[in-house]
Amino acid sequence: MAATTVRSLSNDTVELFDREYQRYSVEQRVYCVPVDGDEEDRLTEQYEILHQVFQHRLILPNTISLDHILDCGYGHGDWANAILRQHPQSEVVGVDIFTADRDEFEENFDAIPWDLNRPVREDGQDLRQEMYDLINSRFLAEGINSERWPAYLRELISMLKPGGWLQMMEYYFNIQSDTGRMAEAPALQQWVRCYLQSMRTLNRNPGIGRELQQLLRSDRRVVNMQAPAQLNLPIGEWHTELRWRNIGVQMVSLVSKALEALSLWPFVYVLGMSHVDVVNLITQARREIVNPTLRLYLPL
Ligand SMILES: C[S@@+](CC[C@H](N)C(=O)[O-])C[C@H]1O[C@@H](n2cnc3c(N)ncnc32)[C@H](O)[C@@H]1O
Repeated sequence: MAATTVRSLSNDTVELFDREYQRYSVEQRVYCVPVDGDEEDRLTEQYEILHQVFQHRLILPNTISLDHILDCGYGHGDWANAILRQHPQSEVVGVDIFTADRDEFEENFDAIPWDLNRPVREDGQDLRQEMYDLINSRFLAEGINSERWPAYLRELISMLKPGGWLQMMEYYFNIQSDTGRMAEAPALQQWVRCYLQSMRTLNRNPGIGRELQQLLRSDRRVVNMQAPAQLNLPIGEWHTELRWRNIGVQMVSLVSKALEALSLWPFVYVLGMSHVDVVNLITQARREIVNPTLRLYLPL
């Protein structure tokens, strides 16, 4: 049965380009991003930056009950752990295609191995209708098929209890210059072009974050939607406000890590570039992101 197959998703890994990938994910071309210690560091760094961006709020509303929480694509578990530290009575279920043993989870966390490209009804065990008070889904653009998104959203909404809350967040990894000077960062510009092209070839939608609002709005079960305007996260120390300047400094390190994590496999195996060329491109792009005069930013 399909459900049994996906339930037994293997956490075997394969080493490529000095990074570790989930074998299943790269063989099936589901999520072609590393799953190693460096990637865990990137996710934790990202969590910490976003925690500052959203001024330490893990969820937007403060009036919902939080008995049962679902975290889709929980990654290194930073958000799940944080919410459990704040609400130790809650029970969090995390779904991820890669669920290798992780010893740092809070109590009351349960992991389900699942490819979220598959309808959750096939799971039939924990992913049931009207089960969750809160559902969190962050940064899955690299792992969800383009055409899957509308059904994925409908399923997430179905799993909410009446009055429950769904929150979603995605980057649009189309780094831009606030002064319109991307041409002065040619390697970064090429990296962005290649990234967007490889994502589309892999049947991924790199701009899905900008479509979520419309997709949610078209579902009549959704009430009380709060859709913050697109946030442009500064990269580098250029912003006039101190708070954003501090975030910009941290973003240099995060983007530097993302430039490698998001591109090594796709640029080689999808675009056919040599590993050496990809490494050179990343090295040059990393030099360019520290130039504060370009006022670079990453749309969220
Ligand atoms: C960029 S990480 C984000 C992790 C976490 N949400 C965060 O904000 O730190 C994406 C996570 O989604 C998982 N993922 C990607 N595609 C998936 C899929 N099709 N089904 C289930 N999990 C997936 C990856 O294994 C990874 O842990």
